[in-house]
Amino acid sequence: MTSTTADRATSASVFVVPDYDTLCDLVTNRIAALVHDKPNAVLGLATGSTPLGVYDRLARRHAGDGLDFSQVTCFNLDEYYPMDANSPHSYHHFMQENLFSRINCPRWFVPDGQPRGEAEIAHACRDYEARIAASGGIDLQLLGIGRSGHIGFNEPGSPPDSRTRLVTLHAMTRQDAADSFGGLGNVPRQAVSMGIGTILDAREIVMMASGAAKASIVQSAWTEDVADHVPASWVRLHPNARLCLDTDAASLLPHENR
Ligand code: PGA
Repeated sequence: MTSTTADRATSASVFVVPDYDTLCDLVTNRIAALVHDKPNAVLGLATGSTPLGVYDRLARRHAGDGLDFSQVTCFNLDEYYPMDANSPHSYHHFMQENLFSRINCPRWFVPDGQPRGEAEIAHACRDYEARIAASGGIDLQLLGIGRSGHIGFNEPGSPPDSRTRLVTLHAMTRQDAADSFGGLGNVPRQAVSMGIGTILDAREIVMMASGAAKASIVQSAWTEDVADHVPASWVRLHPNARLCLDTDAASLLPHENR
C-alpha cells in the first residue's frame, strides 16, 4: 500500500471531559449554538453509537426549547453498499429513527446504497458532492472514529484528497458491525462514503470518541504521523477542528497532546 504522510503538526484542539453525558452536552451545545446563529446551517452528520446521545439531546432541545431545524440541511457521511434505504440496517433508517423523525429538518441526505452498476454509482457519488457544494458546503462536520482509524467509512489507505466513492470495509469495521447485523456474514463488504477531502472541506470539524475501546486509536491518530494509514489523523491538520473525548477515550493520550 502506498502511504501519504504529512507530519506531526496539529492545528486541532483536544477537549477531555469526565464522561459520555458531558461529552454529548459539549457537542450538542456547539451544534445548537451554530443552528441558533446560522439558521440555514449545513451539518455533516455521522452514524454509530457515539453520536446517539447528541441526537437525543438535539431532539429534546427541539421539543423543549424550540431549536429550529426548518432551514437546516444535513448530509450524512456514509451508507453500506449494497443497502436498501428502507432496511432496518441502513444508515438512512438509523438517522430517521434517531434524529430526523424527532426534529423539523426537511432536507437531509444519506449516500445512496442501492445496488447498481459502477458508472451509476460513480454518477451518484459525484451528485452527492455536487449537492453538498450547491448547499454552500458543510458548516460543521460531526465525526466518530472507528477502531480501524476510519472517519466516515474512509478506511486505512484512504488518501486525504478522496471524495465520495464506493469503498471496501476493513475487517475490524465489519467485525464491529457483526452483532447488529446478526452475524459477520450478513455485514456488507462495501459502503459509499464521503471522502477525506470532502470531510476536510467542512468549515468546522467536531470529532467525538468515548470509552476505553477507542483509547488506542485516539492515541495513534493524535500522536503518530499524520498519514493515510490512520485516516482520522488528517483531522489534526484542519484549521478549525476539535477532538472531544471522555476520560476513558483519552486515557492513552499523553498530556502534551491535550
Ligand atoms: P461507534 O462508531 O460510534 O459505533 O463507535 C464510530 C465510527 O465507526 O465512526
